[in-house]
Amino acid sequence: MDLLVRGPVDISEITGMDLEVAVKLVTKARQQLVEDGRIDKDFVTATEIYKRRQDIGKISTGTSALDMLFDGGIETQAITEVYGEFGSGKTQFCHTMCVNVQKPKEEGGLDGGVLYIDTENTFRPERIVSIAKAKGLDPEKVLDRIIVARAYNSAHQELIMQEAGPVIEESKIKLIVVDSAVGLFRAEFLGRGTLANRQQRLNKFMHLLVRTAETYNIAAIATNQVMASPDTFFGDPTRPIGGNVVAHTSTYRVYFKKSGKKRIARMVDSPHHPEQEVIFALTEAGVADLEEESKKKKKDEAEE
Ligand code: GTP
Ligand code: MG
Repeated sequence: MDLLVRGPVDISEITGMDLEVAVKLVTKARQQLVEDGRIDKDFVTATEIYKRRQDIGKISTGTSALDMLFDGGIETQAITEVYGEFGSGKTQFCHTMCVNVQKPKEEGGLDGGVLYIDTENTFRPERIVSIAKAKGLDPEKVLDRIIVARAYNSAHQELIMQEAGPVIEESKIKLIVVDSAVGLFRAEFLGRGTLANRQQRLNKFMHLLVRTAETYNIAAIATNQVMASPDTFFGDPTRPIGGNVVAHTSTYRVYFKKSGKKRIARMVDSPHHPEQEVIFALTEAGVADLEEESKKKKKDEAEE
């Protein structure tokens, strides 16, 4: 699986092996995996693709608003990109999904573990505990199934992704979070001269992420910041950084926006979702529905 995810070009670069030999190696690995029924063969009928797409799992967000936006939840075999300004709830959303994915299938989870790649040092186990408690789960068990990898620079972030294969199999990972996917690349490659280089490296990382999600049938969430784009005259003058690279590798792009205490999520790009907006809230229990918020408040007030 790892050989397939990395591909012959990478393998020949790392090992010094002839590209042709590396291609043969990867082909053999692929043939074996096809024989074992773990991946599709190269030429498949649409029926077979249809069947494979039925293997796609969905992780419920635990809110009816966001589940409506995502048509059931975050999908496996794809990258869901969440972008928005600071404090818009990207990290809170990631934390919530770390808990939700662990729920059994009947309850909207995938009964799987999490690989959390933290590039901004904003992963907080305390938040996981409060979210798990609010959802009636055992916080200790939930924490145990989240593998955190702190990435210190973009090369390290890439390395973590390259070495994720065995961790994914061992810990039955069903969700990879990269919070943030672009931040380190943005910080390290400053200025116009290095832009092409940055995009190339970022491209490599995003492709590795999407191949991993597809090969292992797991969900991937990548967060992204926004920058002001002065050339926008209509609508929201912010857009995600990372440009086309991130846009093209993400299957779904969602924009989070602050609106006072509320948060707005908009599906910006998706092959099959309508472009729509929903409103949600950030609470002790992570991302939540507004109504529940107000109901709970009323209940609390009544109790007082
Ligand atoms: P950057 O990483 O800075 O770009 O922002 P982000 O989009 O990741 O924001 P993040 O998810 O960290 O959201 C922070 C916001 O979540 C805070 O401003 C709070 O409004 C909210 N928040 C975090 N924890 C809690 C909590 O326990 N209860 C409530 N009600 N809100 C919380
Ligand atoms: Mg954040």
